[in-house]
Amino acid sequence: MNYVLFNNDIVVRDRFVDIEDRGYQFGDGVYEVIGVYNRIPMLVDEHLQRLARSAKEIALELPYSMESLKAKLFELIEKNDLVEGILYFQVSRGSAPRWHEFPNEDTPAVTIAYTRSEERMTSLEDHGGKAITTEDNRWLRCDIKSLNLLPNVLAKQKAHEQDAVEAIFHRDGVVTEASASNVFIVKAGELYTHPANHLILNGITRQQILKICKEINMPVHEKPYDQKDLLFADEVFITATKLDVIPILQIDDTIIGTGLPGQVTKKLLGHFRSHITDLEKEAHPFK
Ligand code: PDD
Repeated sequence: MNYVLFNNDIVVRDRFVDIEDRGYQFGDGVYEVIGVYNRIPMLVDEHLQRLARSAKEIALELPYSMESLKAKLFELIEKNDLVEGILYFQVSRGSAPRWHEFPNEDTPAVTIAYTRSEERMTSLEDHGGKAITTEDNRWLRCDIKSLNLLPNVLAKQKAHEQDAVEAIFHRDGVVTEASASNVFIVKAGELYTHPANHLILNGITRQQILKICKEINMPVHEKPYDQKDLLFADEVFITATKLDVIPILQIDDTIIGTGLPGQVTKKLLGHFRSHITDLEKEAHPFK
């Protein structure tokens, strides 16, 4: 049996989306993807905080308190007996007759969450992959994790058709992020990544990497860099929930660095993995 969270109830997954759900018709809503490691929704508070921020930015009132949502997410993992995978969580502006403007106040927001088991992509993490570059044609509020993902979907498909794991976006030559991940480059032992402004999603994994860099005294510059810097970098890697840290060995036709996962990327991946293990231990102190 597969269970989902629908509004405030955990129910068997047999419902259809209401045709007039604004998430469905307008992409009028926000979402999160939370990695589940060893039954723990990793960094759940950070994800819920980002959800609350995204919701606020589109003037969407969350229907339940953070505490109750969090408790429900834990319950959902238990109920689905999910050990490794992801938790998808979305909130839309509810169902109402299809008019573009917001519906009247008594239309409650619709929350949906489900879990999906998924292998860790350790082989990609260890061996790396290829990426392509493509024009960033998204709107100018990429900091909001909104349901509108068509440019991301089209970019990822373009990458997929070229046997690449990601499509790296550039806006007027400046590298922003990728279709579903953040991008870091390494030059002379120092890291560069686009600043967390309206042009990128401030990834939870990205933030953890920045934290790790601080702890191990690795210099990081949160500043814009261009396509040339990307292609001439010593190392490039991407970060995202459940993908963790993936070395990028080739971008379009250019081999990056030595063409093998670099030392800095490997070191950060190692730190990231032990960080995850520490968080698991914190959550399961007696295991
Ligand atoms: N995407 N940038 C974009 C555009 C993303 O869609 C994502 C994640 C990230 C990385 O964020 P985080 O580290 O918090 O996962 C950056 C998720 C996984 C998705 O849409 O499936």
